[in-house]
Amino acid sequence: MPLIAPSLLSANFLKLSDECKMLNDSEADWFHLDVMDGRFVPNISFGIPVISAISKATKKTCDVHLMILEPEKYAEAFRDAGANNLTVHYEACVHLHRNIEQIKSLGMMAGVAINPHTRVELLRDILPDIDVVCLMSVNPGFGGQSFIPNTLEKLSTLRKMINELNLDVKIEVDGGITLENAKQIVDSGADVLVAGNAVFKSADPKQTIHQLKSL
Ligand code: DX5
Ligand code: ZN
Repeated sequence: MPLIAPSLLSANFLKLSDECKMLNDSEADWFHLDVMDGRFVPNISFGIPVISAISKATKKTCDVHLMILEPEKYAEAFRDAGANNLTVHYEACVHLHRNIEQIKSLGMMAGVAINPHTRVELLRDILPDIDVVCLMSVNPGFGGQSFIPNTLEKLSTLRKMINELNLDVKIEVDGGITLENAKQIVDSGADVLVAGNAVFKSADPKQTIHQLKSL
């Protein structure tokens, strides 16, 4: 059974409190929180004060996806804001291993996200040190984009690598997940499904989360 991580990027920001309540009452496992800096990605979302407010409104895992340059400057602030998982981008970190060590020393689970063009094989030497791989199935920066089909092949390769190395690393797939493609994604090896538009723009978000969960 996959873990479900609704992305609050697609939530109604005027009703964040209601959105958090809805997720708390749902079968959602993680709150996925997308932070964008307008430099690593061509968009700006929300940051530390908003995450701090959201994390106080839930007991569920706060999964913070940093699409920012120099994440080491803010790791402690995100921890203080309530992040449980902190994910940084492979493409944004010159000293990825150091960044991962920092995140773990701050008491958070550490994740590495890779863009659609980045080969999963490049994660080989960092896999033993991390808790989560966030496989981007769209180019990061925006919700509501279409799933890039070759992610499925990358997903199977990554699943195989993790199994062969006998590691306990979760694979999270992020971007363009719908009720139609989710089963294939789970069958290809995903442990965690991020879903923004599919959840928040649906007629019945709780029911959609239930459907994703019961795949
Ligand atoms: C994209 C973000 C995703 C996004 C997913 O940059 O990392 O988490 O919010 O949204 P959907 O599910 O609508 O593609
Ligand atoms: Zn994300």
